[in-house]
Amino acid sequence: MSGRLEGKVCLITGTGGSMGGAAARLFAREGAKIVGCDLNPDTSRTCVEAVQAAGGEMVALEPCDLRDPEACSALVALALESFGKLDVLFNNAADAHIGWIEELSTEAFAATLDAEVNIVFNLTKAAWPALQKKGGSIINMASVSAWITYQALPGLAHSAGKGAVLSMTRHLALEGRHHGIRANSLSPGLIETGATRELLAMPEFAGPMIDKIMLARPGQPEEVAAAALFLASDESSFITATDIRIDGGTTAW
Ligand SMILES: NC(=O)c1ccc[n+]([C@@H]2O[C@H](COP(=O)([O-])OP(=O)(O)OC[C@H]3O[C@@H](n4cnc5c(N)ncnc54)[C@H](O)[C@@H]3O)[C@@H](O)[C@H]2O)c1
Repeated sequence: MSGRLEGKVCLITGTGGSMGGAAARLFAREGAKIVGCDLNPDTSRTCVEAVQAAGGEMVALEPCDLRDPEACSALVALALESFGKLDVLFNNAADAHIGWIEELSTEAFAATLDAEVNIVFNLTKAAWPALQKKGGSIINMASVSAWITYQALPGLAHSAGKGAVLSMTRHLALEGRHHGIRANSLSPGLIETGATRELLAMPEFAGPMIDKIMLARPGQPEEVAAAALFLASDESSFITATDIRIDGGTTAW
């Protein structure tokens, strides 16, 4: 199948990272025009160049810090100036502080909520008027950490952040229903990305984490991008206010 996103303008955050980059490349292959962004201008540019080299269309705001509402407005303005509309908003970017409660500072907890929850609110609010015009699809990156607790992962702040993203998504679906805006979340399990590669090299972490996965291996960014593509496309037109787990069976046993 090809052309599944033909004519759609898709804004994806964190395109300098693993899953955002995989989504940008896949969505562009399926005919979407991509608007990306990242805190890291170098990795962001590498993604833009890869998409363009493969014949796709992509612009990006780099550096862009989504914790700043003005940067979010500038990003939406870039989408509208470049491509005239917005059909899909994929809130993928996030950053978390890891630590058990004894070592996690109040500042680190608040910073995690800023970089996991507030950025989703900031950009969705900035994009809402454009999405309202013709309807669209919002995809928020949650996590299985919103559903379960990993014994080996000091994920207190991260679980709080992704739990908020999960419940916020249902509310966005409620508010968007009269405007043709669908909102869904993705909950990946352990995925091999720039954020987890170092941890996966530590046997005391990787062992128990992989033991939790029915398929006995971490997922790949492209396997998450495939689910995002489905939610971005019109194939998921009757799906809203739901969450798709991409976790190799982690939460099922
Ligand atoms: N890797 C996993 O196992 C896993 C599992 C579940 C959920 N997730 C979620 O998937 C998403 C993507 O993670 P990844 O593993 O690809 O990580 P990654 O580190 O490879 O990519 C994240 C990208 O987001 C960017 N970013 C972070 N904060 C930003 C900000 N304020 N403004 C702009 N850009 C910002 C980073 O610079 C980075 O390039 C995140 O929301 C993460 O929480 C990851």
